[in-house]
Amino acid sequence: MSSTPTIVSRIGELRSLLDAARNAGRRIGFVPTMGFLHEGHASLMRRARAENDVVLVSIFVNPLQFGPSEDFGAYPRDLDRDLALCAREGVDLVFHPGVEEMYPEPNTLTVTVGEIGTILEGKTRPGHFDGVATVVSKLFNIAGACHAYFGEKDAQQLVVIRRLARQLDFPVEVVGCPTVREPDGLAMSSRNTYLDLGQRRAAAVLKLALDEGARLLDHGETNPSPIEKAMAEVVNAEPQARLDYAACLDPETLGEAADPDRPVLLAIAAWVGKARLIDNVTVDPAAPKAARTGTSTDEASIRKG
Ligand code: PAJ
Repeated sequence: MSSTPTIVSRIGELRSLLDAARNAGRRIGFVPTMGFLHEGHASLMRRARAENDVVLVSIFVNPLQFGPSEDFGAYPRDLDRDLALCAREGVDLVFHPGVEEMYPEPNTLTVTVGEIGTILEGKTRPGHFDGVATVVSKLFNIAGACHAYFGEKDAQQLVVIRRLARQLDFPVEVVGCPTVREPDGLAMSSRNTYLDLGQRRAAAVLKLALDEGARLLDHGETNPSPIEKAMAEVVNAEPQARLDYAACLDPETLGEAADPDRPVLLAIAAWVGKARLIDNVTVDPAAPKAARTGTSTDEASIRKG
């Protein structure tokens, strides 16, 4: 395992390296990212490192998954720091293509995810999941047979990508990994860098709202509507936060949580300043309470952009 990752910007070169590794019987672990890496990404790399012989990280801010008025241009980028984090985590290969390498032709064909792309995140971000599914399809085609690691932090994205791999027959095993949080509960995100100090404190309200929803479930509430209302009230009590949605759902279908004996996904989205933040927890009535909180780290990892 080398300590400095090999940086590759061409699809053909990456394919040759991965084919050679596979032919030598080595297992590939793949972590797709948009860079500005933090401990959440690092946890995916660690899992990939533990379960595979070769670890590949892609760093590509995918224009297709940003709406016209979204933050594609402003999305934080810091390649040197990202490479240092990859080196620290023992990553072997970093794929960092340009937009022209990934989308060389005009009128790019896209993958359409259907109805699941129109709810929750997709309601506020039309076309977002088609953009995610398109780039992830390309990345899966480029990477070939591998284990691919994704965060539960983006719960709807994980559902979409599991369906994508299954329904389009990619030779990829999708592995979901727990959400990594700051000590106050805020889920780590590259977009946390948009928050000033006051907004950063206010952002903890998302996890507080999820905790309130989980508390109601623990106390035997099974009806989604009062749970959603209670989560919304917690967010609305924070003047710096503006709620998008608070939802109580089936974690696999993202439809209504109908069966009280099955796990429930509590999902939330809110704007704090110009940052649109999302978070979720899965509450399993059969699991110990600590299992739902994800992991938190004491490392001061909020970056100032
Ligand atoms: P990005 O936001 O960079 O996230 C890359 C991966 O890291 C995703 O699987 C995401 O769920 C995971 N992740 C982010 N924050 C996390 C946290 N706090 N704890 C655990 N995992 C976390 O998601 C994307 O990029 C893009 O949509 C991508 C899949 C790369 C397609 O462009």
